[in-house]
Amino acid sequence: MQNKGPFKLKILKNTEISSEIYKMVLESEHIAKNALPGQFVSLKCADLTLRRPLSIAGTAEKTFDLIYKVKGTGTEYLAALKPGDTADLIGPMGNGYSIEDKKYLLIGCGVGIAPIYFLEDVLKKKGIKYKSIGCFRSRYKTDNEHTYCITEDGSSEIKGRLDDYLEDIINSENPDIICICGPNPAMRYVTGIALKNNIDIEVALEGDMACGTGVCMGCAMKIRKGGKLESVKICGEGPVFKGRDIIWE
Ligand SMILES: Cc1cc2nc3c(=O)[nH]c(=O)nc-3n(C[C@H](O)[C@H](O)[C@H](O)COP(=O)(O)OP(=O)(O)OC[C@H]3O[C@@H](n4cnc5c(N)ncnc54)[C@H](O)[C@@H]3O)c2cc1C
Ligand code: FES
Repeated sequence: MQNKGPFKLKILKNTEISSEIYKMVLESEHIAKNALPGQFVSLKCADLTLRRPLSIAGTAEKTFDLIYKVKGTGTEYLAALKPGDTADLIGPMGNGYSIEDKKYLLIGCGVGIAPIYFLEDVLKKKGIKYKSIGCFRSRYKTDNEHTYCITEDGSSEIKGRLDDYLEDIINSENPDIICICGPNPAMRYVTGIALKNNIDIEVALEGDMACGTGVCMGCAMKIRKGGKLESVKICGEGPVFKGRDIIWE
């Protein structure tokens, strides 16, 4: 079985790329070689009992990236870490998005862009066709580019919200599959549009978690599987699920 840690890893960079949004680069050849887009790591934050899960946002030869929003005590602690400090984490955890020779439309909303950046890199390396949409309040300072970068404040070429443009983009790009990560209302909306247009859709859920390792049932939820309801754990069977199987609350 693959070694999931805990690992104590050196932080190489930890920089603010938008208001209260940080990008951390960590050293680990093991995670860089083994991670799949959609998987996450769970970080120990000072003396907090519960680790905090963050999606892997990309890998290089011996490093991997995280992109996170400062939300509460755990992420405040992470944002204060400096290059040279150590992060204690387990991973890579969970499943990943399907990677097949299909035409993809990738959508990342806010920090939900993290697994989408990683998926985009992998599709590019494999020569699989894709287009991407990034939706933000304000543009992030990264080297990543999107086919469509939509910002609420107009700091990119397209001003507005995802729902102002999505149906037109789908009509012109004609994807076989949509992969999305973002807030639940956005994923629910996109799932509805995808299913209406007979497009396969995979969503990465970022619900509340406790242990992150499949033992506490803190992330349990019901999904639809073959006409029946089934109980699954986001951290175990997920975080990526078929949009059509999700029961949106
Ligand atoms: C699979 C997955 C991937 C994710 N990827 C990303 C990502 O790439 N980028 C990103 O910005 N965010 C991501 N998130 C969300 C991120 O994990 C949360 O924003 C983060 O945990 C916030 O931690 P906090 O301590 O700052 O906030 P808090 O609000 O203080 O705590 C976060 C959550 O931890 C739980 N918690 C805290 N204290 C307790 C306690 N004492 N007892 C029980 N539960 C407690 C609660 O459920 C709470 O909602 C992801 C979440 C999941 C599940
Ligand atoms: S967070 Fe404990 S089972 Fe998923």
